[in-house]
Amino acid sequence: MILGQPIHRFEEVTSTNAVAMDLCHKGALEGTLVVADAQTQGRGRLGRDWISPSGVNVYCSYILRAGHREWVSWVPLIASIAVVSAIHAKTGLNARIKWPNDVLIEGKKVAGVLAETVSNTGEIQSVILGIGVNVNMSKALLPSSLHFTTTSLSEHVGELIDRNQFLTRLTGELDVQYQKFWNASMSDIIHEYLSISDTIGRRVIAYLPVVGPVDGWADGIELDGSLRLRCLQGDTLIIRSADVVHLRGEEKKRSVFSEERKI
Ligand code: BTN
Repeated sequence: MILGQPIHRFEEVTSTNAVAMDLCHKGALEGTLVVADAQTQGRGRLGRDWISPSGVNVYCSYILRAGHREWVSWVPLIASIAVVSAIHAKTGLNARIKWPNDVLIEGKKVAGVLAETVSNTGEIQSVILGIGVNVNMSKALLPSSLHFTTTSLSEHVGELIDRNQFLTRLTGELDVQYQKFWNASMSDIIHEYLSISDTIGRRVIAYLPVVGPVDGWADGIELDGSLRLRCLQGDTLIIRSADVVHLRGEEKKRSVFSEERKI
């Protein structure tokens, strides 16, 4: 196993991604893991905050020297596969992935992934892979605006889960995916991703940064991990980054896995 060594553990940091980035600049080894009990400035995708109270969840970041790999855009997606596998192994729950890498249980977010690249001399060299999992967090620690969209593992299993054991399993699952990633088993990874995707085949609204909301069908995944959206107006968009909302009652009415057949 190459991921998870050495481990830097902290009671509180601003963000484990920020600490890992700093260590990366100082030459830390591939696989270095930064874990914290709490974050004061946890960061999420699309510039959002990640709520990171103390003593209840897992906040971790791995340094991956994978920035030059052709498939680097898949790193956050493989992390979400690893999270789903670790959840299943430790709780028996079947989590699913909302494109690109939100992990959901019964439609509510239980974990998120933030991959940030570190470049030296303008060339991407490393990826800081940050993962946050809501393990034992109760609703009382969340603002009420998130009560209907966010959940935790303990809420579903009805008991507290050992966070250290969860992290060990998560690291092992991530290591398995990362080995596949390096050994060019991308078609395995892509099929695995599609099999636990909650997005592909669904009616969705994608909120694009400049264009705004676009309504359509999530048609498939491109080879770089982008989402292929067939708009209601008929044209097809390839989306690299967006916030996607699943529309209820419009699930799996079409089976449009054309990209899966190509892989
Ligand atoms: C998302 O918006 O879904 C991504 C959330 C990623 C949160 C994790 S917690 C550990 C690491 N450190 C951070 O500041 N963010 C990531």
